[in-house]
Amino acid sequence: MTSAEGQSSPTVVVVDDDRSNLASLKKILERESLPVRAASDGREALAILRAEPVSVLLTDLMMPGIDGMDLLRAAGQTSPNTAVVVMTAYGTVETAVAAMKEGAYDFITKPLRRAEVVRAVRRAHERASLRYENQGLREALDHAGGGRALIGSSGVMRRAIELVEQVAPTRATVLLQGESGTGKEVVARALHRLGNRANRPFVAVNCAAIPENLIESELFGHEKGAFTGAFARRDGRFQLADGGTLLLDEIGDLPFALQGKLLRVLQEGEVERIGGGAVERIDVRVVAASNRNLEEEVAAGRFRSDLFYRLNVIAIELPPLRERGEDIPALAQHFVRRLAAANDKPVRGIRVDALDALQAWTWPGNVRELENVIERAVVLATGDMIGLQDLPDRVARAEGGSRILHIPVGTPLEAIERLAIAETLKMTAGDKRKAATLLGIAVRTIYRKLDDWRAGDANDEGDEGDEGDEGDEGDEGDEGDV
Ligand SMILES: Nc1ncnc2c1ncn2[C@@H]1O[C@H](COP(=O)(O)OP(=O)(O)OP(=O)(O)O)[C@@H](O)[C@H]1O
Ligand SMILES: [Mg+2]
Repeated sequence: MTSAEGQSSPTVVVVDDDRSNLASLKKILERESLPVRAASDGREALAILRAEPVSVLLTDLMMPGIDGMDLLRAAGQTSPNTAVVVMTAYGTVETAVAAMKEGAYDFITKPLRRAEVVRAVRRAHERASLRYENQGLREALDHAGGGRALIGSSGVMRRAIELVEQVAPTRATVLLQGESGTGKEVVARALHRLGNRANRPFVAVNCAAIPENLIESELFGHEKGAFTGAFARRDGRFQLADGGTLLLDEIGDLPFALQGKLLRVLQEGEVERIGGGAVERIDVRVVAASNRNLEEEVAAGRFRSDLFYRLNVIAIELPPLRERGEDIPALAQHFVRRLAAANDKPVRGIRVDALDALQAWTWPGNVRELENVIERAVVLATGDMIGLQDLPDRVARAEGGSRILHIPVGTPLEAIERLAIAETLKMTAGDKRKAATLLGIAVRTIYRKLDDWRAGDANDEGDEGDEGDEGDEGDEGDEGDV
């Protein structure tokens, strides 16, 4: 139900056969408060990879014995969560490209620049740590018990879950507040399930959905003939929930006149039907929920303060999903499981790019929206993993650096080229040298094209679509450091 606690946090392993290089890299990363271990050859690095969780393997490519490429392949097998960043001498970038194709996460060129090292390692460390965390959550989920589990690994949700477990066995009234779709009803059900009323009824009533003139009868029941249309004696939700739990949903919408009656019922534990003289004793645990801020309603004179205090014995606030992005991987994975089973699809996970997009989106509809997005993705997915292409556009676009380009047939080559360069630059966080390497063109070609585009945006003609080969004499003065 909670995150992977007890698992030691993954470390960054630096491998270099050059001792002084190794020492200075270690110092640079330690100064960034990253957990670092140094290995002076491939064998030593492999031993660490086998023994403990490693987020980043920062390795030299050329080393005696086990070299960087061997290490990269071995890491892929023994420690698939590890992101490998290779260091390569300037002028041998082909090997770096080969390493990327073999699954390296990133590369940096020598001579090393401190900022570049830090940026690359940080990025890789965050990515890999997330993978470890997801894995931990998946394992934790296995114990969480079925589709009605209350999922949450963020600090706020963990505290909410603890509180739920603590107050579930009591009779204390709980007030749940949060935007629509944040999980108020799931929490109410968890309170019921985890308490000692679990084998008694759970009854929910949505105060906003019932016409005002029917609410009283809906809640408290009526006698036969109590009003026109009351053909028979009827139980209200309070009677139906006797011995169990009653969720009064959207309590903020309860008409003012009924708020006083509800307060009396809660205080006395007695219900009086419409049109009846006698009172019935009922034993109901009340949970109230609202997506309006009740304190504001009280201040505005729309909600009785005495009822508010009576309901607000234990308050549980469910923050919007956009404020607890940490919960997204576990929730998404939970929905994948449930919905893959329900839709009979062999989907078992979410690819990293899609997960990035899920975490970047702001979720105005909160967890309910996430659940719907995952359901759609499970249905659309063709393989066993959900990818960016399975997400709705609004969500897919939320990811910063999309790694797949969608280009309509018939797009002019120049536009394709421009898009490819722009998107590659996004992926390399603006690093033109690295983008040029990935695109297989000279870095000065990128500078020239960017200049051309900037200058000629108004001008349709005048560009011959030059390939910009190595011999190109474009200005080199611009190239400078990143
Ligand atoms: N922490 C959670 N763990 C698992 N599922 C969740 C969680 N939070 C929400 N959900 C799921 O998201 C959906 C919306 O949750 P729920 O109905 O509880 O929201 P709500 O706050 O009551 O919304 P509304 O105010 O619109 O009634 C449900 O399908 C629920 O199962
Ligand atoms: Mg609800």
